[in-house]
Amino acid sequence: MKVIIFCFSGTGNTERITQEWVSEILANGHEADLIKLDKDTQPIDLSAYDRVGFAYPVHAFNAPEPVWRYAKTLAEQPESKPAFFLMVSGEPLNMNHRSGDKLARILKRKNIHVESAYHYVMPYNMIFRHSEA
Ligand SMILES: Cc1cc2nc3c(=O)[nH]c(=O)nc-3n(C[C@H](O)[C@H](O)[C@H](O)COP(=O)(O)O)c2cc1C
Repeated sequence: MKVIIFCFSGTGNTERITQEWVSEILANGHEADLIKLDKDTQPIDLSAYDRVGFAYPVHAFNAPEPVWRYAKTLAEQPESKPAFFLMVSGEPLNMNHRSGDKLARILKRKNIHVESAYHYVMPYNMIFRHSEA
């Protein structure tokens, strides 16, 4: 299986989770590409990939704007493409589970269908600061 994971990370927590995923995918004999999203990331041809992941920090119970803006630039897929979310938040609130709803709606229009989502709680990066440790 060949997997691509698009990752947006403000302060490194989401990137760390994504790298763990990539390591596990590779350790299980599959292929994985990690694409870091920023405003200049160009749309990528997904035809070679069996699964598409989107990893993001929860921002105001939503996916951050650069993530869903990027999703809008992706081409409509000729065949249904399975996708998954890695959502990383600072609080263990159930409301965070709905953070991918808007992104999933955009992807559905591209024939990319979210099959699963995984929620990780990592250090909170606003209001107060955690120690680096
Ligand atoms: C603008 C902003 C909004 C946030 N909103 C939420 C939120 O709605 N729920 C939550 O649990 N954490 C929220 N957080 C905390 C981050 O999701 C959390 O710290 C995450 O681990 C940061 O990941 P990153 O290092 O990849 O950016 C917010 C952080 C920022 C900067």
